[in-house]
Amino acid sequence: MTEAMKITLSTQPADARWGDKALYSIDNEGITLHLTGANVLDRIQRAARKIDGQGIKHVQLAGEGWDIEKSWAFWQGYRAPKNSGKVDFAALSDAEQTELNNRLKVVDWVRQTINMPADDLGPEQLATRAIDLLCSVACDHVSYRITKGEDLREQNYMGIYTVGRGSDRSPVLLALDYNPTGNPDAPVYACLVGKGITFDTGGYSIKQTAFMDSMKSDMGGAATITGALAFAITRGLNKRVKLYLCCADNMISGNAFKLGDIITYRNGKTVEVMNTDAEGRLVLADGLIDACAQNPELIIDCATLTGAAKTALGNDYHALFSFDDHLANRLLSSAAQESEPFWRLPLAEFHRNQLPSNFAELNNTAAAAYPAGASTAAGFLSHFVENYHEGWLHIDCSATYRKGAVEQWSAGATGLGVRAIANLLLSK
Ligand code: BES
Ligand code: MN
Ligand code: ZN
Repeated sequence: MTEAMKITLSTQPADARWGDKALYSIDNEGITLHLTGANVLDRIQRAARKIDGQGIKHVQLAGEGWDIEKSWAFWQGYRAPKNSGKVDFAALSDAEQTELNNRLKVVDWVRQTINMPADDLGPEQLATRAIDLLCSVACDHVSYRITKGEDLREQNYMGIYTVGRGSDRSPVLLALDYNPTGNPDAPVYACLVGKGITFDTGGYSIKQTAFMDSMKSDMGGAATITGALAFAITRGLNKRVKLYLCCADNMISGNAFKLGDIITYRNGKTVEVMNTDAEGRLVLADGLIDACAQNPELIIDCATLTGAAKTALGNDYHALFSFDDHLANRLLSSAAQESEPFWRLPLAEFHRNQLPSNFAELNNTAAAAYPAGASTAAGFLSHFVENYHEGWLHIDCSATYRKGAVEQWSAGATGLGVRAIANLLLSK
């Protein structure tokens, strides 16, 4: 094992020879990060990305100033799918050390799960991994039910069943109950619903390669919301929360769903499929119906739902939609406290009416005259939330995954969103 490269912090600028923008300088002692001006955490993250890029495999965060946020910023920049490098973190207080360990455990679980090739992560594996994570933080308080394949049809989970039936790998609904109260009849505080499309080909409305190449990450909403629950538990969540993961492959086969097919949901709503690539909303509808039946105070769904949200926000923000201003502001303030990027996009009553169908109550895609793709997707979901005006947040998690590296981030999953959602679950 080679000796670790020491990384120290300085508030002084680098020697002028390094240039006036130098993030770091190097001498015989190791690397010094120069934290001048604002955006200190961003500077650390960008420096760490460069340090990985240089191929430095073992670093030690040394000297003064390495608090938890700085240590975490370093890790966020340094980690990468192909970086097996090791960080020796600086000593922290017990509380901060626990917090850091839990972030490493849960956020890295989210990133690794999203980065897995679809071949290795089907609907059932996704559900199993989620159960394993939650068991590792709270086994005594966790129970769950898996509904799979033909059982979904028999129990009328027709969205998940219809989207998933074209794949050789059966679709799955995971319903998990975290109940720390000791009372089996305790009210459910929150229901969390995740889109777990383990691969999205687009189905017969097939995606072109440049859009399909990242679609192993279409279960990012499920991974993120699962991570959020696990992380909230590590921070002491003492309320009952239920998690619903709607897991399926969206594939092409002789048994796949087709354009013009009509799905009848358990709440009686009918949906005509006019685009098999708008599959996320079809599976989430089943999860939202179950979530509402629990009468929770709070429903949050999280999904890589639309390219339109990506177009609006890039990979830099998660999109937030809600009819409940107070709740939306609470999430935004949770996100700010955790330094995570969320941006609210419009969701209005009229978006709910922009999905007309000639054969069913709803179309799964908006009519051509209504191009607000991310908002109409949210409007679609609202039809499956009983009291959609209050207590419901929809997150179109566009900051989940990037195809290529940028200054601060490696290619692949970011893990962003876990902390903000966990913070919200613990707030008030
Ligand atoms: N999973 C995609 C959305 C997506 C695309 C997320 C790119 C992240 C990156 C979703 O299932 C999808 O295909 N949505 C369609 C909906 C359209 C057909 C109404 C889209 O956004 O193009
Ligand atoms: Mn799709
Ligand atoms: Zn999708």
